[in-house]
Amino acid sequence: MTPAAAVDPLTMRRAMGRFATGVAVVTTSADGTPHGMTVNSLTSVSLEPPLLLVCLTTGARSTEAVVRAGRFAVSILSARQEQLALRFARRGEDHFAGLDVTHGRHAVPVIPGAFAHLECEVERHFVAGDHVVVIGHVLTVCERDGEPLGFMGGRFGDIVSRGHDPVSWFF
Ligand SMILES: Cc1cc2nc3c(=O)[nH]c(=O)nc-3n(C[C@H](O)[C@H](O)[C@H](O)COP(=O)(O)O)c2cc1C
Repeated sequence: MTPAAAVDPLTMRRAMGRFATGVAVVTTSADGTPHGMTVNSLTSVSLEPPLLLVCLTTGARSTEAVVRAGRFAVSILSARQEQLALRFARRGEDHFAGLDVTHGRHAVPVIPGAFAHLECEVERHFVAGDHVVVIGHVLTVCERDGEPLGFMGGRFGDIVSRGHDPVSWFF
């Protein structure tokens, strides 16, 4: 057991890496420039009203752009989109160079071929430690068939269904 006082950033990242997630790209357009970053901090907050949250590092260009634009999209990546996940995780690069982006209904760029995308209006944002928690009110949802990209322990992978019936009281 690691005592609380010894929880440094690497230990924290490793421990949270045991929590398997999907992978998404948060995109926005601020002053005509597209921005985007890979995230796995995506969480559903509320169904009615429909709210989600993402935690964006304070230093990132996309964080400031999302807050400034007041709108963003979350593209949940499909199983074979890990190159896109890597592209949008490289700091300081033009993430959109040579990329064929489409726009959602609310004039924000979205990632083509994503498993789902949700367009949001920034409902609220606040600083928590070294990240900005952004709560988005979901305006539009678009889903497509396929499988999601997974992430755990620093590795991309597949999320494999065991084929049981969906949890009936939940879905
Ligand atoms: C799988 C994965 C998940 C990530 N999740 C987050 C996240 O939830 N929040 C975050 O701030 N950065 C996250 N990052 C790091 C950002 O994608 C990276 O710092 C990004 O390049 C910053 O964007 P910028 O170029 O606009 O500065 C993640 C990276 C990877 C590879």
